[in-house]
Amino acid sequence: MTEDQKTLIRSSFARIAPDAQTVAALFYARLFSLDPTLKPLFKGDMDEQGRKLMAMIGIAVGNLDRLDAIVPAVQQLGARHAGYGVPNESYATVGAALAWTLEQGLGSDYTPEMAGAWSDCYATLAAVMQEGAAQAASMATGSTPAGVVSASPPQEAPEDFRTNA
Ligand code: HEM
Repeated sequence: MTEDQKTLIRSSFARIAPDAQTVAALFYARLFSLDPTLKPLFKGDMDEQGRKLMAMIGIAVGNLDRLDAIVPAVQQLGARHAGYGVPNESYATVGAALAWTLEQGLGSDYTPEMAGAWSDCYATLAAVMQEGAAQAASMATGSTPAGVVSASPPQEAPEDFRTNA
């Protein structure tokens, strides 16, 4: 991602963060209208879920300059998502719901450059999560994809990714 893209993301996230609860509610309403079959995957309180999602996006936005540092935690997040029964294809649906929500929240500030910056950011996160999900699946079946050391025990995600993220 370019510096300009990072600046766009930081400034727009700062604008929507104070309304995180409303933004999250809009996001899930849009997600379930795009694909109602995803709704039963969510078993917990949706307000709480919305807080976790926004906190996790906040962590990613706060670490745009050093995304490498959060790769292991994001992989673990992806592995947990495989456990929630999240299909790979649904990452595209979530990306579409996120883009729509940002457009609602930012209005005319949601320029094509802004859309591109968020889309690149989301695609990066989603790819790392899917990688984590694939690694979890291959460990479960006992096959080892190239470059993955299957003998290492699964890492614990940092505490903040479990509770606040
Ligand atoms: C960049 C993409 C995503 C981020 C940042 C994200 C973030 C989170 C976070 C922080 C949690 C809290 C639980 C945990 O930490 O394990 C969570 C749970 C969950 N997410 Fe995601 N998620 C993403 C993509 C998706 C996608 C594509 C789906 C597909 C429907 C999804 C469905 C769920 C479900 C079903 C739960 C568990 C809800 C429950 O416990 O009832 N997420 N997500």
